[in-house]
Amino acid sequence: MTRIISPSMLSADFGNLERDTKMIDRSAAEWVHIDVMDGVFVPNISFGFPVMKPIRKATNKVLDVHLMIVEPEKYVRRFVEAGADYVTFHYEATDDIEGCINAIREAGAKVGISIKPATNATALTDILSKVDLVLVMSVEPGFGGQSFIDGSLDKIRDLAKMRREQGLDFIIEVDGGISAKNAAEVFNAGAEALVAGSAVFGAADPEAEIINMLKA
Ligand code: DX5
Ligand code: ZN
Repeated sequence: MTRIISPSMLSADFGNLERDTKMIDRSAAEWVHIDVMDGVFVPNISFGFPVMKPIRKATNKVLDVHLMIVEPEKYVRRFVEAGADYVTFHYEATDDIEGCINAIREAGAKVGISIKPATNATALTDILSKVDLVLVMSVEPGFGGQSFIDGSLDKIRDLAKMRREQGLDFIIEVDGGISAKNAAEVFNAGAEALVAGSAVFGAADPEAEIINMLKA
């Protein structure tokens, strides 16, 4: 079973972005999660292209970009140019899902689609065959440091079942409220990639915390 940790740079020290990115680069985490918020899709604003630059420069790891923005199709190409390996947009954020998927593919990145806690997995039935990754939000998007919503485990199981039934191999990633305490449960429900912000950057030893999550 594949197990990937994707530390969320939202919880990094932005005054020491290079140092924190290099720490992740040395760690057992294979991905780096980048949360982009526009103040419209979510009630918070994080950062955009200029902040991705120093992150991309400081690591060769997979850049896992999570767009919490409306009309993502307008910007996906620029995120790929800024170094994104995966670009994930929200099902709820666009009227043009097909166009957004195509724009990401044409720009040369892998495609992810994300659903908020209130959106059922079945909303994605006809989309699953077109994406490389499904990101299950296990908190309301917008802020780090929230508690994991337990109902997310059933949604992960539903998606894993749909994946089996449709004979697909997209990655299931889960984001929000994850730590070494619940990592095993989330992996066992069928997820391969776990995002962790406060658990990693708030730990006394972030590199050890990443290993704890992988071995949970
Ligand atoms: C929330 C973001 C998350 C956030 C997770 O909207 O998408 O990636 O950084 O933070 P933690 O791990 O602290 O819940
Ligand atoms: Zn995220």
